[in-house]
Amino acid sequence: MRKPIIAGNWKMHKTIGEAIETCRNLAELIEEQNVEVVVCPPFTALSAVNALGLANIGLAAQNMADAESGAYTGEVSVLMLRDIGCKYVILGHSERRELFNETDEQINKKARLALKYRINPIICVGETLAQRKANETETVVVSQVKAAFDGITATDAVNVVIAYEPIWAIGTGETASAADANQVIATIRKTIAEIYDQEVANAVRIQYGGSVKSSNIKELMAEPEIDGALVGGASLDANEFAAIVNYNVAK
Ligand code: 13P
Repeated sequence: MRKPIIAGNWKMHKTIGEAIETCRNLAELIEEQNVEVVVCPPFTALSAVNALGLANIGLAAQNMADAESGAYTGEVSVLMLRDIGCKYVILGHSERRELFNETDEQINKKARLALKYRINPIICVGETLAQRKANETETVVVSQVKAAFDGITATDAVNVVIAYEPIWAIGTGETASAADANQVIATIRKTIAEIYDQEVANAVRIQYGGSVKSSNIKELMAEPEIDGALVGGASLDANEFAAIVNYNVAK
């Protein structure tokens, strides 16, 4: 059985003080035991959140460099993330792909580096609205998945989390229908089975992301292929994020 993973991607939000307050509140509000909860604060707040030592909240970075160390002004390396207590790192978010021109090759390089140092990548894939309208969703997503796993062994592959985030659903209030998201995620799982085998495909967790909130999480999580969520805006508020995480707790 795959343990669901719900992660809050804070993007470029929250000072250290705000991050601490949100995490302290969130830790108190989490009731669900069967969901892995992760927060992805900006780099500047990672250390402070880690120092809180909250047992029910895991830590992720939002990006990392594609080199271990060196003359790369402004970059943050995998060794620094490991040092600061990160268990996960988001890689290839559509904002990084679109605004910072990250390529499939770079994302793959980062994923291999993260796995080498036992940090689990959360690799984002997803189509634009134009690609969806042109019926290219599956082609685009399959190609991103194949590129992301290039050169990764089966032993490492099971530690990768994939986030299917249709770009048109990010920050727009528009969500893919649960059935549509489930179908694309099923295709992603089939692709992993083709690259490796069914056992690896069954182990890899695949999240949905794009305007997830407490009012739609239950419906999304009811789908058999959806193993969690990567939440943006709705994860900034501890109460709302806790309500998402606690989607299955009886009221
Ligand atoms: P929203 O939940 O704000 O749509 O953002 C999704 C996202 O990009 C998470 O990585």
